[in-house]
Amino acid sequence: MRKKIIAGNWKMNMTPTEAKALCETLVPLIKGTKNEVVFCVPAVDVTTVVKAVKGSGIKVGGENIYFEDKGAFTGETSADMLLDAGAKYVILGHSERREYFKETDADINKKVLKALEKGLTPILCCGESLEQREQGITIDWIRMQLKIALQGVSAEQAKGMVIAYEPIWAIGTGKTATTAQAEEVCKAIRLLIQELYDRKTANAIRIQYGGSVNAKNAAELFAEPDIDGGLVGGASLKADFGTVATA
Ligand code: PGA
Repeated sequence: MRKKIIAGNWKMNMTPTEAKALCETLVPLIKGTKNEVVFCVPAVDVTTVVKAVKGSGIKVGGENIYFEDKGAFTGETSADMLLDAGAKYVILGHSERREYFKETDADINKKVLKALEKGLTPILCCGESLEQREQGITIDWIRMQLKIALQGVSAEQAKGMVIAYEPIWAIGTGKTATTAQAEEVCKAIRLLIQELYDRKTANAIRIQYGGSVNAKNAAELFAEPDIDGGLVGGASLKADFGTVATA
C-alpha cells in the first residue's frame, strides 16, 4: 500500500513571522494523521518551519533548487542548502517555474538528478495547458515531459520519487479537474513508469493531483486508485489544509 502524501505549496507567500503563525494553526490539525504531510515553503522560511513543526511528523520541502552544487549563481539555492536547513523534499518543474522563469524539461532533468544525488526527494510536476487538453494531446504531452525529466534516473531512485500531475488550467483557478480526468492522467503516468522501469517501480512511486484541491474535493480525489495525495497551493495557506492533509 502506498502511503498518501499531501504537500502544501506555499509559493511566494509567508514571511518567516507569518510562517511560524501558520504552523501554529496547522500543526495541531494535522498531527497524528496516517498521511505523509509536507510543507513546501520559500527557502527563507525553511529553518523557521522546520523548527515550528518539530515533533509533529510533518516534513518540510523547498520549492526549487539550482542544478549546480555551489558557486557564482546569484540568487539561487542549492540542494545542500535546503538539506542542511532540514528540508527533505523539493518541488521541481512547477508550471509557474516553467512559464515565468523559462525552465525547460532539460533544466528540470538536471535538477531532478541533482536532488536525487544529494538525497532530497523531488516532487516532479507535469501538466497540460487548456489548449493542449482541447487538442487531445494531454497524455502525449505529459509522457514527453516526464520522459525528459526522468532521463538517467534509476528504478531505485524513481521508486522514492513523487510526481505531481497539475493541469495548468486548474491551478489557482478554482476549476478542479473532475475526479475522472485526474485519475485518467495519474493512471497513464503510472503506466508510463511501468514502461520506463517495471511494475514494482510503478506500484511504489507516488502520484499526486494538484490544481484547486480544497477541503471539499480532497477526499474524493485522493480515494482514486492512482491518486496518492495532492499538491495544494491556495488551500495550504489556511486552516482548510488541516482537512485536506488528513483526507
Ligand atoms: P492551487 O495550486 O491549489 O492554488 O490551484 C496548486 C499548485 O500550484 O501546486
